[in-house]
Amino acid sequence: MKFAQRLDAIETSAIRELFKLLSKPGIISFAGGFPDPALFDVEGIRESTAAVLAQQPGAVLQYGATEGWQPLREGISAFMAAKGCSVAPEGLIVTTGSQQALDLIGKTLISPGDKVIVEAPTFLATIQCFRLYGADIVGAPIDADGVKVDVLEQLIAQHKPKLVYLIPTFGNPSGATLSLERRKRILELAARTQTIVVEDDPYGELYFGAPPPPSLLSLSAQVPGSREWLAHCGSFSKILSPGLRVGWMIAPPELLARATMCKQFSDAHTSNLTQATAAHYLTLGRLQPTLDQVRSVYAQRALVMAEALKRELGEAIEFNAPQGGMFFWARLTQGRSAAEFAKRAIDKLVAFVPGAPFYAHDPDPATLRLSFATADLAKIEEGIARLRQAL
Ligand SMILES: Cc1ncc(COP(=O)(O)O)c(C=O)c1O
Repeated sequence: MKFAQRLDAIETSAIRELFKLLSKPGIISFAGGFPDPALFDVEGIRESTAAVLAQQPGAVLQYGATEGWQPLREGISAFMAAKGCSVAPEGLIVTTGSQQALDLIGKTLISPGDKVIVEAPTFLATIQCFRLYGADIVGAPIDADGVKVDVLEQLIAQHKPKLVYLIPTFGNPSGATLSLERRKRILELAARTQTIVVEDDPYGELYFGAPPPPSLLSLSAQVPGSREWLAHCGSFSKILSPGLRVGWMIAPPELLARATMCKQFSDAHTSNLTQATAAHYLTLGRLQPTLDQVRSVYAQRALVMAEALKRELGEAIEFNAPQGGMFFWARLTQGRSAAEFAKRAIDKLVAFVPGAPFYAHDPDPATLRLSFATADLAKIEEGIARLRQAL
């Protein structure tokens, strides 16, 4: 078969290949990017689905508006307001996961050959999705405080990118959080250079201690002219359930209108049943206690993983302990290759993801990502001990 040329630039993700090995019996996996299903509020979701099916069966099982189920748009608007972001229900659309919001951004903004700047490393699916639209992707270096703004400024001047894509809070895979000072500078840069900045924020609610700095969206109110260059993607996947496939996109009206048009040809609208379920769920007052529980379980797992890594791997590895989210981003010292380490680790029945695929170019082969979200404390201890045997 002859496939579209646009597929030529895309490879099956190395991570998917690795996932095939994860069914080995007895394996302890730190490889996934999934939230822990044991923490889903099944009771609250069951109650919400039953309520909307009882109250409005015709509407929730019918076709719906491309922009989203209106009560959910209102619910997301209130949810964002509680986080200091003022956005009217009409200022957002509901998307089929935030992944679709990213796809709509690619579809509406990227022409073949356009430059796009992302963090190095960044979310692999975004790299693949933007490449599908022909983006020429440029990586901007990061440290523990997120993207290095001085370098970003130079890259913007050099490449005049169509957009800059950032995961400012508890990044995937980096775990890093952009400092408040850098956030403000990025908003100033966006306004001054008239560059679209996409803030992808699926993990911001998963903080372990103090809340992270306010989102770029929230801070844009303080930086004149920045809001019109900012798109924000949110999601219930990591705080409620990814299976609902409910995310959202907040963007300037012109961009939102074009994204809505593209969504019409893509999936017409996100499932009314899951949107209405999410909207009802938000009225129950259960999200806060659910989040408290998720935060405290993940915080404990992250702490145990940090201690185990130090104890078992010592000088062989360096990392910054994340303050939230689901991931440790680490680097092997002494010139070790993370891909080779991953193979030996699978033999010892423990899995993680080598870091190279998360770079758009010039990967650091010593890096790796470990998720602490789904393994219990005993498995984390045991898994990291197995890693030592695999060194
Ligand atoms: C940074 C980032 N953005 C977006 C997504 C997509 O999430 P969803 O489509 O489930 O909202 C993920 C999922 O892992 C992610 O890590």
